[in-house]
Amino acid sequence: MRSGDVYDAIPKVELHCHVEGTVRPATVVELAQKNGRQLPSEDPTELYRYTSLNSFLEIFWLVQELLVDRDDWARVAYQSVVDAVPHGLRYREMFFTPARHLAAGQDLAEIVAGLSDGIEQAVLETGARCALICDIDRAYGGGAGLELVERLAALRRSGRGERVIGLGMDSTERGVDPRDFADAFRLGESVGLRLTSHAGEDTGPDNIATALDALRIERIDHGLAILEDEALTRRVAEERIPLNVCPNSNIIIANKYERLEEHPFRRMRQAGVLATLNTDDPAMTDLDLGKEYRTVARALGMPWSEIEEVALDGVEATWLSEGEKRSLRAQFERELAEIRPSDPSEVV
Ligand code: HPA
Ligand code: ZN
Repeated sequence: MRSGDVYDAIPKVELHCHVEGTVRPATVVELAQKNGRQLPSEDPTELYRYTSLNSFLEIFWLVQELLVDRDDWARVAYQSVVDAVPHGLRYREMFFTPARHLAAGQDLAEIVAGLSDGIEQAVLETGARCALICDIDRAYGGGAGLELVERLAALRRSGRGERVIGLGMDSTERGVDPRDFADAFRLGESVGLRLTSHAGEDTGPDNIATALDALRIERIDHGLAILEDEALTRRVAEERIPLNVCPNSNIIIANKYERLEEHPFRRMRQAGVLATLNTDDPAMTDLDLGKEYRTVARALGMPWSEIEEVALDGVEATWLSEGEKRSLRAQFERELAEIRPSDPSEVV
């Protein structure tokens, strides 16, 4: 068996993880030195403390600013994947959010090339696979979002963007109207990008419905508020629209609940929603995929059989082809059979 306990050994897909939120604390310090940036603290327990989504974003943006050249992007992408594999990662669709880098004059082609270099090296060493989702930063507004997708479209036309399979949106949610980004999402759709967006993390269910209708997203990131709207919950369940949920992040970053026991993840699934488990920003929240699965299972009393379903639902929620999904699911079923405890109806 691999390192750690049985939760690390569960084969996993991850669909909601930001590369900038996976940078090892030691790498943060080294990048700050290399790029001549001052950190308010080099101690992650001091630096990584948040009271709200917006206070988290202040720190997230600081880490983003440490990524200045192709090698920096390659380094963090490589480490991101190799760090997740011991905790069960087999396939990830990973966010990067280049708004402030582009505003500072970086070239999108170089960013994507760097990320791709790092991922390719990690794939060679680990066998895990990883695609990219380019996120719009809502804080920069609809015009910047459209400009980003125009650059992405040009990159695809030049044949240098094939690792980027999707378009997403993140960052601050309050006071921002998702409709401002409709043009950007239409352009993304027209060039063949798959669509997702953070929604209902820091606001109510209306934002989820608006993102579904105005942006035509195919998945929802967080969607924490969904159960507040019964009709919307039914729609999302019936249409099998995946919700990529990050329970520990919702406690630590968005500060939505005091304790994991209060999190609606299990209730979302009981309502028929295809809800997956993800880490969001693991290096900034002292988290990994094994810990996410283990803590959620125990806090919500989810028996092993339900956790197996979560892992398999992850495969369904990917943007892999139907054939690739079938073979990844078969691989997961084989691996799960090997580690299944004697009584799967119990919480492990
Ligand atoms: N929400 C919004 N923006 C983000 C997040 C998040 O959970 N993580 C990194 N950027
Ligand atoms: Zn996120």
